[in-house]
Amino acid sequence: MKDYWNHNTVYHPELLASVPHHDSRILDVGCGDGLLLQKIASRTKHITGIDPDAVALSRARARLSIPSKARFICGDFLTSSELDTQRFDLIVCVAALHHMPLIPALERMRLLLRPGGQLRIVGLARNKSMFDWVISGLLLVPIRLMSKAHRESGYPNMTTAQPLESFTEIRGAAARILPGSRVRRRFYYRYTLAWTKPHDS
Ligand SMILES: C[S@@+](CC[C@H](N)C(=O)[O-])C[C@H]1O[C@@H](n2cnc3c(N)ncnc32)[C@H](O)[C@@H]1O
Repeated sequence: MKDYWNHNTVYHPELLASVPHHDSRILDVGCGDGLLLQKIASRTKHITGIDPDAVALSRARARLSIPSKARFICGDFLTSSELDTQRFDLIVCVAALHHMPLIPALERMRLLLRPGGQLRIVGLARNKSMFDWVISGLLLVPIRLMSKAHRESGYPNMTTAQPLESFTEIRGAAARILPGSRVRRRFYYRYTLAWTKPHDS
């Protein structure tokens, strides 16, 4: 299955760079069709994807069939008991956090990381303040030009949703639940969140 470019995949290289070592255990929350996991599979074999969309997961399985030990869970990240006994070195979540209740999802990500493990989120936020709208407005033309230059594929057959929380609300929640996390506005109408779980937690 082929690679493609959109406002989420543009952040894949930095997520790949955060894979700690070739034995790392990685979880992709809301893995969709598995494109990111396919790229991560070149760095470590211990990869797990979870998504409730059975059709997307069948595409992910096809992408990773040879010769991978990828594990796929068709289910809800918040409630899947299959994850309860697992701990991960890296949890990634691209364009999927806004499909879930924010605080329970961040708390579960924190729980499922091993001490020293890393969380990397690429997310969408809702425009609420004047500042949010001004930034989005300023980015409109440059992003359209970049999307055209890269022949953006769009989001074929992908479950999408509108974000509910603003950037400020997400940063506030992250500061409470993931102290020391870094949340940044990014170019393609996205934010990124990076956090390392302290060793003493
Ligand atoms: C916009 S897609 C992004 C997919 C993929 N991460 C990517 O970047 O292409 C959002 C994904 O989140 C998944 N999702 C929605 N609710 C979820 C939940 N509770 N647990 C896990 N995944 C969920 C959807 O099924 C969908 O595949």
